[in-house]
Amino acid sequence: QEPLTIYERIGGDDAVTRIVEAFYPRVQKDPLLAPLFPEDIRPVMEKQRRFLTQFFGGPPLYSQQYGHPRLRARHLPFPITPRRAEAWLRCMAEALDEAGIEGDVREEMWSRLYFTAGHMVNTPEGEE
Ligand code: HEM
Repeated sequence: QEPLTIYERIGGDDAVTRIVEAFYPRVQKDPLLAPLFPEDIRPVMEKQRRFLTQFFGGPPLYSQQYGHPRLRARHLPFPITPRRAEAWLRCMAEALDEAGIEGDVREEMWSRLYFTAGHMVNTPEGEE
């Protein structure tokens, strides 16, 4: 048998949707993050739902629509400082709490998200 994916272990589409729905209201309230995002957050939420689905081993919903993620390149238009990456991760930690994601699977998700957030940093602190 194949080992279960993270996506399967958290409960699939329902769980990913809960995470995304918990995450963006926090982003929109965060003083460091809010200015980077459009007022109409729904399209961003839908992209992130598709991305996280495939990132955690579910169907490749993001790539089917948008091609290779090239996440770092897609973030280059936005000045992402270390503090913004921290803020992003803080919002995500709270979203995982709200979505009820716990235990080993949460640790696995966290290490992947933490690594990827660090990889998005493209601007030194104070030069944003
Ligand atoms: C898009 C900020 C980290 C996944 C975006 C956008 C911003 C942003 C401003 C564009 C929203 C728009 O469409 O106008 C940030 C900041 C981060 C961060 C400040 C801090 C490190 C991450 C991480 C992931 C991620 C860690 C994945 C695990 C995405 C995806 C998109 C996106 C999938 C949509 C890309 C597209 O197709 O246009 N992000 N992001 N981001 N972000 Fe991030």
